[in-house]
Amino acid sequence: MKFVSIVGARPQFVKAAALSRELRKTHKEILIHTGQHYDHNMSDIFFSELQIPKPDYNLNIGSGSHGAQTGIMLKDIEEVIINEKPDGVIVYGDTNSTLAGALAASKLLIPVFHVEAGLRSYNKEMPEEQNRILTDHISKLLLCPTDTAVINLEKEGIREGVKNVGDIMMDTVLYYKVLAKETTSLNDIIDKYNIGTDEFYLSTLHRAENTQVSEKIETILNAFETLNKKVVLPLHPRTKKIVDKLQLNLKNVVVIDPVSYFEMLILLENCIKVITDSGGLQKEAFFMEKQCITLREQTEWVETLNGNWNRLCSIDEKEIIDSINSTVLEDAQKDYFGSGNTASEIVKQLENYYI
Ligand code: UD1
Repeated sequence: MKFVSIVGARPQFVKAAALSRELRKTHKEILIHTGQHYDHNMSDIFFSELQIPKPDYNLNIGSGSHGAQTGIMLKDIEEVIINEKPDGVIVYGDTNSTLAGALAASKLLIPVFHVEAGLRSYNKEMPEEQNRILTDHISKLLLCPTDTAVINLEKEGIREGVKNVGDIMMDTVLYYKVLAKETTSLNDIIDKYNIGTDEFYLSTLHRAENTQVSEKIETILNAFETLNKKVVLPLHPRTKKIVDKLQLNLKNVVVIDPVSYFEMLILLENCIKVITDSGGLQKEAFFMEKQCITLREQTEWVETLNGNWNRLCSIDEKEIIDSINSTVLEDAQKDYFGSGNTASEIVKQLENYYI
């Protein structure tokens, strides 16, 4: 069978790495990179480190307003699909690249297969929530990571083609954790980024809801400045621009460039706790048995909240400090996300679709 897979942003490279490897054992895959993320350390580094096959098409779309970015992608992806005539199109997650890919395929009546279907924050102001809902409603196979995702789809009347295949990011973490340790050490990372200590909190911030208002970033950083250990903050380029403008005199926060996937795994394994607004990192923290404080009002990954492994926190200086200092674990972790064989499960489901 011939599939077109569409990626564009960091979290999709991580997911495609696991599925591509499995899919290409028995099928033909044509990979499209929309170019939504284009900086070396937001894109190329993931392809080389995770040994993701070179994209057959790089659309070089780059940044833009949501409408313009999604619109240009839609037009360019349509051309590729018409040219390649695949049996199906695979899209990942909830970015603008996901929606553009799903829409282009669906309008050409090519079946859409959505990896990480069924997630909901129930906050429609998030661009990701809009992308997920729309993609799910035009997908033929809804490849869900959890039982909660299956239930979410049921509530919207979607039952056909819904499968819980486990979480593809679990495959990625299990596979690359070993490789990361073989090629990267904590000391190398500490030296490379001038971190200066091996006791640190790990944080990332990039969500539109937190980065659109610079006061929110300032509140978060002020809270970080009061902590008793340093906060290592690999910064997304957009957040970096905002932080630079604020001209804060940060002493406890170590701002560094976006790190590679291997570096992230090593930082995760060695940090005290994780403080983030990323969906993927919340889960990776859970997989690596680290407590997480999520700087958002909702999470799609509600399972991680059980036993206090993850805790939601508003953007309020006192609440942030209290959450970081006081989180107590109540329960052992449970196996909500499958066992790391999601890629082969997905390939099986893709094959069954055509029977
Ligand atoms: C996108 C996804 C988000 C995902 C995140 C992962 C959407 C709506 N959002 O958000 O769900 O969690 O990726 O990182 O698709 N920029 C650069 N260099 C890059 C990429 C971005 O400088 O390589 C800057 C640009 O100023 C750009 C801004 O970051 O305007 C935002 O990038 P964009 O791809 O639009 O969204 P993300 O915030 O990265």
